[in-house]
Amino acid sequence: MSNVIQGGTGFIASWLIKTLLEQGYSVHTTIRPDPENKKDISFLTSLPEAPDKLKIFTADLRYPDSFDATIQGCKGLVHTASPMPNEFASDESHEEVLVLRAIDGTLGILKACLRSETMKRILYISSMASVYLNNEKVDVMDESFWTDVDYASEMKDPFGFYIISKTLIEKAVLQFAVEHGLDLVIVIHSLVVGPFICPTLSDSLKAALAPIFGKKDDYSFLINMSMVHVDDLAKACVFLLEHPGPTGRYICSSDTVTIQKIVEILSNTHPEFTLPTPETLTEIEGSKMPGVTSKKLMDLGFKFNYGVQDMYDGVIKCCKEKGFL
Ligand SMILES: NC(=O)c1ccc[n+]([C@@H]2O[C@H](COP(=O)([O-])OP(=O)(O)OC[C@H]3O[C@@H](n4cnc5c(N)ncnc54)[C@H](OP(=O)(O)O)[C@@H]3O)[C@@H](O)[C@H]2O)c1
Repeated sequence: MSNVIQGGTGFIASWLIKTLLEQGYSVHTTIRPDPENKKDISFLTSLPEAPDKLKIFTADLRYPDSFDATIQGCKGLVHTASPMPNEFASDESHEEVLVLRAIDGTLGILKACLRSETMKRILYISSMASVYLNNEKVDVMDESFWTDVDYASEMKDPFGFYIISKTLIEKAVLQFAVEHGLDLVIVIHSLVVGPFICPTLSDSLKAALAPIFGKKDDYSFLINMSMVHVDDLAKACVFLLEHPGPTGRYICSSDTVTIQKIVEILSNTHPEFTLPTPETLTEIEGSKMPGVTSKKLMDLGFKFNYGVQDMYDGVIKCCKEKGFL
């Protein structure tokens, strides 16, 4: 039986599809309806195992029933598709309407899983956004921490509604799973960095590469950033799909680094770039985010394979190959 990965055009989903296919799984994925066939999906269809093992469907989270055909007959689902911060910013509907729509869309997918009668396990891909934005003063957070949505609203964070939507969706899917007996696991990962097969450079990778692009506005985002290599995240998803008994939330994050450390690694390994000077880095204003621990995931038996240098080597190599650097 197959696994479903929605939003196959995305950075994380496309790497996860590649990983599952390499491990012998059949995969169903979705792209948003594209009546004029403008979307380049050759990076998916040209994967070596794709002709035999990858099926691509069209579906949109705003119409959850559109996922029925994709989910039919599958045993695992990784829910990666999500309205991203830029989508919240570009949609003219009231932000609260967008958050409610995102919650309804996700619950609609869970209802489609119930209807399928074959779905065994669902992974909901969340974000540190659902953990760290609260009034707790600690250096390291684990799965017991939750973003406080009232605090997040008051903070007027530019990503506020994305943060609130990820938090409220997580709470809603956990409650729905308990009420309907669904085997649902939450994967809370930090900033994902590493190689990519999709043709676009995601906003999160652009932020990770801010010191190379000289994008000073994004430096504060990296003051104390937790990160994970895209391949470690994909392997963690496969691990959690296969494991007999994961429960609840799992943080997936291998490293927490300062922007000073990132610049030090880059200057040692990629002298071709002009990087911010130490003086520039001392001028950065912003608050320090707490680190996070993946102890719960590692106690289950998962091992991380990559460090921060591997993450940057991977993304820089792909950016050079695809002409972004
Ligand atoms: N990248 C990170 O560092 C990071 C960190 C924390 C959490 N996450 C979470 O990880 C997941 C994937 O992130 P990513 O970095 O891979 O993002 P991405 O590259 O922007 O991919 C997002 C995917 O979601 C799809 N999507 C958006 N709205 C949709 C809708 N209404 N219906 C169907 N599909 C829709 C997009 O489709 P289109 O291609 O058609 O736009 C795209 O395929 C998200 O849930 C995100 O919140 C990512």
